[in-house]
Formats: sequence, C-alpha cells, structure tokens
Amino acid sequence: MPTVDVHTHIYPPTFVELLRSRTTVPYVRTFPDTPNSSRLVILPGEDDPSTPSTSRGRPIGPEYYDIAQKIAFMDMHKIDKSVISLANPWLDFLPAEEAGEAAQRINDDVDGLCAKYPGRLYAFGTLPLSAPAETVIKEIERLAGLKHMRGVIMGTSGLGNGLDDPALDPIYAALEKHSQLIFLHPHYGLPASVYGPRANEYGHVLPLALGFPLETTIAVTRMLLSGVWDRFTSLNVLLAHSGGTLPFLAGRIESCVKHDGHLKKKGNIQGRRDVWEILKTNIYLDAVIYSDVGLKAAINASGADRLMFGTDHPFFPPLEEKAKEWHSVNANYGAISSAFKDDQSQAQDVLGNNAIRILKLHD
Ligand code: URA
Ligand code: ZN
Repeated sequence: MPTVDVHTHIYPPTFVELLRSRTTVPYVRTFPDTPNSSRLVILPGEDDPSTPSTSRGRPIGPEYYDIAQKIAFMDMHKIDKSVISLANPWLDFLPAEEAGEAAQRINDDVDGLCAKYPGRLYAFGTLPLSAPAETVIKEIERLAGLKHMRGVIMGTSGLGNGLDDPALDPIYAALEKHSQLIFLHPHYGLPASVYGPRANEYGHVLPLALGFPLETTIAVTRMLLSGVWDRFTSLNVLLAHSGGTLPFLAGRIESCVKHDGHLKKKGNIQGRRDVWEILKTNIYLDAVIYSDVGLKAAINASGADRLMFGTDHPFFPPLEEKAKEWHSVNANYGAISSAFKDDQSQAQDVLGNNAIRILKLHD
C-alpha cells in the first residue's frame, strides 16, 4: 500500500545560488542581527524593511535544497514516493531572455535528483513563462521526453495576464497534446490592501491561510469563465491546497454564471461545460487542507478517486525546534483517516493509489 506525496517542493542548489545573487524579492540573504542564518524571502509584501528581520521571509536550511533531506523526511513519515516540484515563485521573475535556458537547467537538475533515487522520486517541471510562447512550448516538448517528469507546476500569472489569457492557448494545446498535467499553485495572494494596516502584526497567516487559497480559486474560476476547458477538454489540472475554496464555492460560482445577464446575452454560457463536470473530469485536488471538514468538501466536489495526499514540505516545519515529526504532515494524515473512517480502501486510494494511477508512477 504505497503512500505518495504529490505536493512537495525543492529549490535545487543552482536555484538557491540564483536567489543568493539577488537583492530584490525573491532572494536569499542573511540579516545583520542573524548573521549565521540565511532567510528566504519570496512572497510579495514580506520584504518590508520596517518589519523585524525575524519576520521577513523564513529561515532556509538544507531541507529546502538537499535531496537527501527530502528522502529522510519521506522515510520519517512513511512516504514511499514523492513528486517533487520547484517552489514558488518558480521562474516568473526572470527576464525573458534568461528564462528558457534557466528552465532547461532547473528541469535537468530536478530530473537528475530523481534519477538518484529510482522508484522514489518523480517531478513536475517548470516552464519559462516569461519567455515567448515558442520557448515555453519547446520546453513542454523536452519535458515530455525526460524520464521522471509527470507534468508542470505553474503559478497563476501565466504569461503575465493570468490563466484566462487567450495567448496561453498554444501552451494549453501543447500540454494537452503531451498529456502533461498542470499542478496549479498559488504565490501572489491578494493585494496587500485587503490585509489592512495591521497586516505586519499577523505574520504570514493572512496571505498563506487566505490569500493563497483565494488566489487559486480566482485563477481557476477565470479559466472556467474563459472556456479553457471547453476548448481543451482533456487538459488536466491538479489544484494545490484542495482547490483553495473551489469545492466549497462551486455551487455559488455555478449559480452566478447561470444568473449572469451579461454572459447570457453574449451567448457565452450556451453549451458550456459546467463547474461540476469540470471538477469531476479535468480537475484533481491535493489533500493539503489540514482538516476533514475541507477534505470532505473536496471529496464531495471531485470524488475520492481524484484526491491525492501531499505535505507541502519543506514549508510548515515542525512546531517545536527539537520535534522530529511534522505537525503539518500529521494533520493531513489525520484528516484523511477521519474523513474515511468507514472506508480504508478509499483512504488508501487518496494516500497513494490515485497518484500511482493518475501520474503513472509504476516502477
Ligand atoms: N509558502 C510558500 O511560499 N509556498 C508554499 O508552497 C507553502 C508556503
Ligand atoms: Zn506548495
């Protein structure tokens, strides 16, 4: 009975070097009051010089870049296989002329890391989304030939205008043609103004707990409204954090679409595939939601056969400095066991069988 982690990140050493060479977000650096520990500063808004350095970004240790630590973490939590992905903000910040080459280097690095642990590691590749569409498509074609790649991780900005941008159509077509799944992951959150003038007092709670899931929900709803899945009926997307709030809000989204006079007038809703159909046909959800309440919404929306265990390692580390086990991981294990207490075979599907089948992880 394998356990598979489909949401687990790495910054390969070459990427960390790139971040160390930078002085604007995203970057890695030490601060004068903590000269012996580097901090990873990646999120918009977490670079405010008026906040103490201990709340700017997060400490970065080898768990972020050393693949042996990933394997040790997997062993500790009885995870048999992991599908690793570069963490946010991927290559979104690179100038167009650098992105294509950087994506090749990172994807080769990550594929090489997987090769060191046969049968245990697979990966989602990274696309050079700031480069011209032809460069992105070339990398999609190259990734299709790399042994350990099982799709691509992508943020919500697309080519700069979001995932409902018609300029993405050739990229969606290439991903669909090569049966490459998109792992859609948030990074940008919501505009800082919604967190209010006291945001600095609340650490990362508002952007991570609410900004991230709402960003995902808005991005995927824009894809739905622009008809991405009406044009690309076999395009598959794995949504991070159990779909943000999509499972909970799908009924409201569907009702608002049906009642919208503007959409009706434009004829945009004639013959469209509805939200529920897409949730059960094109969308997969990870099980990174930390409670059975959210997990049950995900199960009801997409089905237990479309849900896959994840950890978000190395983010959300153990709560106490000396603790070995990761509370965040055990919360997700606990949510699965509580949601499926009467059906161990479905629990096992979510823990690993679904990922093996959907992502073709047979040894
Ligand atoms: N914080 C991030 O920036 N990324 C994650 O994937 C999780 C937490
Ligand atoms: Zn993540």
